[in-house]
Amino acid sequence: MIEMLSELQQRQSTPANLLDEPAPCDDQIAEIVKAGLAAPDHAHLRPWRFIVIRGDARQKLGDIFVEATVRREPDMPDEKLEKQRLKPTRSPLIIAVVATITEDHPKTPVVEQILSAGAAMQLMQLAATALGFGSIWLTGPNAADNHVKSALGIDAGDELVGFLYIGTPRNKKPQPDRAPLSEHLSDWSG
Ligand SMILES: Cc1cc2nc3c(=O)[nH]c(=O)nc-3n(C[C@H](O)[C@H](O)[C@H](O)COP(=O)(O)O)c2cc1C
Repeated sequence: MIEMLSELQQRQSTPANLLDEPAPCDDQIAEIVKAGLAAPDHAHLRPWRFIVIRGDARQKLGDIFVEATVRREPDMPDEKLEKQRLKPTRSPLIIAVVATITEDHPKTPVVEQILSAGAAMQLMQLAATALGFGSIWLTGPNAADNHVKSALGIDAGDELVGFLYIGTPRNKKPQPDRAPLSEHLSDWSG
């Protein structure tokens, strides 16, 4: 138990370009997504979808990132566009996490549905860590872009809460430096 607590407290991301093969196999992806399905969820809406992107699909996603970037910023220089193209190929596996939104739900406002999908993302990161993989949660302008969402089959009204890049960390990172507890914790006494 203490070991699990320490793992949680030491959790850290791995930059996408330091995530190599092997990526999780199908069974491991299923385990990771099952952890996501355990996220807290007000009114049992299950407000999430998970889209696996691997192999050649990563190049296709890179092309979509370029198209979306050109639409947003037609004057972007070629070398910056090339960076966009290469983004998805930095890691062997990406899982896009989508909040599927129910508008005007009587109990669960949209923000809570997005929080649930975010909680799923975090649980998936922890599951990936438990299986020995590294990961990082990335968004950027592409995650909010309707051209990207449409290419991935995501409704414009749903939220792409992020791309979880996953792989085997190239090297071990030093222990993370956390903010002092006193800066973030207080007692309210009325
Ligand atoms: C919703 C969300 C979106 C994020 N998007 C990005 C991003 O686009 N680019 C980035 O460098 N980090 C992004 N991050 C931060 C990284 O996932 C990571 O937390 C950060 O690099 C710090 O590393 P750590 O998790 O080891 O503390 C995002 C985090 C969250 C929660």
